[in-house]
Amino acid sequence: MSADDWWKHGIVYQVYPRSFQDSNGDGIGDLDGIRARLNHLVSLGVDAVWISPVYPSPMADFGYDISDFCDIDPRFGTLEGFDALVQEAHAKGLKLILDFVPNHTSERHPWFVHSRSARSDAKRDWYIWRDPAPDGGPPNNWLSNFGGPAWSFDEVTGQYYAHSFLKEQPDLNWRNPEVRAAMYEVMRFWLRRGVDGFRIDVLSQIVKDAQFRDNPLNPDYVEGQDTFLRWTMLHNTDLPEVQPIVAEMRRVVDEFSDAHSSRVLIGELYLPLPRLVAYYGLNAQGVLEGVQLPFNFQLIGADWQAAHIDRLVRDYEAALPAGAAPNWVLGNHDRARIASRVGPRMARLAAMLLLTLRGTPTLYYGDEIGMTDVPIPADEVQDPFEKNRPGMGLGRDPERTPMQWSADANAGFTTGRPWLRLASDWRTCNVEAQSRDPDSMLALYRRLIALRRACPALHRGSYEALEAGNDVLAYARIGEGRRLVVLLNFGAAAAPVPQALLPRRPLVLASTDPARAGPVDGALVLSPGEGVVIGNEGAEENQDPPV
Ligand code: NOJ
Ligand code: CA
Repeated sequence: MSADDWWKHGIVYQVYPRSFQDSNGDGIGDLDGIRARLNHLVSLGVDAVWISPVYPSPMADFGYDISDFCDIDPRFGTLEGFDALVQEAHAKGLKLILDFVPNHTSERHPWFVHSRSARSDAKRDWYIWRDPAPDGGPPNNWLSNFGGPAWSFDEVTGQYYAHSFLKEQPDLNWRNPEVRAAMYEVMRFWLRRGVDGFRIDVLSQIVKDAQFRDNPLNPDYVEGQDTFLRWTMLHNTDLPEVQPIVAEMRRVVDEFSDAHSSRVLIGELYLPLPRLVAYYGLNAQGVLEGVQLPFNFQLIGADWQAAHIDRLVRDYEAALPAGAAPNWVLGNHDRARIASRVGPRMARLAAMLLLTLRGTPTLYYGDEIGMTDVPIPADEVQDPFEKNRPGMGLGRDPERTPMQWSADANAGFTTGRPWLRLASDWRTCNVEAQSRDPDSMLALYRRLIALRRACPALHRGSYEALEAGNDVLAYARIGEGRRLVVLLNFGAAAAPVPQALLPRRPLVLASTDPARAGPVDGALVLSPGEGVVIGNEGAEENQDPPV
């Protein structure tokens, strides 16, 4: 793969640092822990690791409330330790992507401490301050993503400040050019230290309506639903003013890109398709000046049916602007894990889907061993989202439990007391045990990734939708003279595959079913939940791919 397009053809792996590996026995994962586990990522075969925030933070939202954008929280390590991590990752051929959180800071960030101190403070306008409504209440009806109003009253100066998340996370004012300049310097600080790009937190929400108008009622709201959905977010998300800012961010990372090392921006964007693809930033000259990868979360909420997924893949392919790089995500630290959403058998099919679709896949730590959501008893809840609105099932602790490495104490995650309980199956479901088992989820992930790396058709080829009937999703991936056919049986019944879909002398290159391998003899009937990648005998990709 050429150096400048690793993010188009490679694979991204997300680490939630608190939960990956603890190196000093305090029960919290850290940078040295990640460094000690890089070989796992190398043997898995991924290209880049994205780590959720590790900056100094009061941890009201576990690091997404940042009190210093240009340092490392002592719980995670030091700047020197960070440099060592970058260096070692690069030495092992891995890229390192940081989380960039532009929408808000911690209330303890010196910028906010200044801003709240006086109406006349030089940093007053770095945040969003408004007078109370005539009745003394919040300035408008905007809501916080974490529950309650998006405004808190500050006694010191008698005004409200805006916060799209916790009150401990005041929103920055991106209409202020000083804020923009300061935040671009933050990006440069890390780019100079060698990071390969950023995943940008809640990118669509960074600019708010200049007139602070009330959001309109959501016509689809049904009484009894989460009250957050009562109003649309017309005036505080995805405003046209976000786009020029995205282009500015892109120019900052481009300052550090050359033919040997291109830096990437990945946007966190939960938006409908037409609004999502706008973040590629297609300009009037036909140049893409936005983020290279607007996260495509469609699979996270998708109905697990072939026809539904077929439609969303086709729609996504059709919506992409010319030259845009597609991407796919199955899970992250905010959403239920894939193995819990679709069950263990279908999670194998999901792995094959993610790793054979056209577009950069992002894997969430632990999904490669089939980790599931862990129920957290009420008195052990950590996530403020759950604490703010208990009992609604919004908490994100279940998908953030410690990585299961081995059958050693605490699954090898820590020698101390883990900050969040482990899954009960850690003694059997762990990296070490699955490494010894050729039928395991980990072995399947390794095979699929190796196949993807070895086959240009998979990592850079085109996509062609096919019709297979039943509950089978079918598509071909075509590149460098090869055509591979992917067949995924989402159904609970065995599914015969139409002969016409198969190439001459079909050969199974990968299957979710450990028993299936080699040439296809006669009719191909997929078992329930089975997925296969079919090539043809005599082709180059049949050689054992390098692992
Ligand atoms: C999105 C992040 O993924 C989530 O974990 C966080 O709580 C919010 N943004 C606020 O930063
Ligand atoms: Ca630690």
